[in-house]
Amino acid sequence: MKTKLSVNLNKVALIRNSRGQNFPNLIEVAQDCEKFGADGITIHPRPDQRHARYSDIHELKKVVTTELNIEGYPSRKFLDEVLKACPHQCTLVPDPPGVLTSNTGWDAKKHQALLAGVVKELKAANIRVSLFMNADLEMIKAAADTGTDRIELYTGAYAKVRDGDNKELTNHVDAAKLAGQLNLGLNAGHDLNLNNLLKYNSAISNLLEVSIGHSLVVDSIYYGLQNTIQLYKRQLN
Ligand code: PXP
Repeated sequence: MKTKLSVNLNKVALIRNSRGQNFPNLIEVAQDCEKFGADGITIHPRPDQRHARYSDIHELKKVVTTELNIEGYPSRKFLDEVLKACPHQCTLVPDPPGVLTSNTGWDAKKHQALLAGVVKELKAANIRVSLFMNADLEMIKAAADTGTDRIELYTGAYAKVRDGDNKELTNHVDAAKLAGQLNLGLNAGHDLNLNNLLKYNSAISNLLEVSIGHSLVVDSIYYGLQNTIQLYKRQLN
């Protein structure tokens, strides 16, 4: 099974916003990513819209021919924008408003009622739902109870471990097996890069999709966008 690469364009949006003009043009970059082999495009509009903006969701929906994945905390504003645009997938993330970047998965027990309600609303609009989760078996069971289609495993802790015995990877393998048993589709993301992706993907046979932004954009400075996307794809096939 081939694992799909969804390119997260938040860092491209950040560069665009830094000059107050439409350069680089996010839409053109998304189209080029697809041309160069990306299987999907992801953005994560945060409440302050410092990276991707809510309006980007709608512009991207018009042009993306692969899969559009919108990530974010399910505030009413976020959900209304997502429901208006109807992307292929919406990944719900428990980010507090001012957080630098997503750094943990949902407590799906504590937020069961909220998540179940939002999952139902998004699925009724034919939007596939994924919940951002830690590799925590109890929480993954609770995530399944919300009715979500998929989970996205938070790989930040896995990525932090340098070589040697990576207990985190074992946790992810166990979490992935459980997701399979619970009929949950499996995505993963955060801090994945050219040094840790192959090992992760090789260990997890039911990994459907990874979403990668920061390292991919940094690597593009050195290798160019087309080469970089191909390098990441090679780790996945
Ligand atoms: N998945 C989620 C839920 C995220 O919030 C992010 C960062 O926006 C990513 C994946 C991608 O992480 P990175 O930019 O480290 O590749």
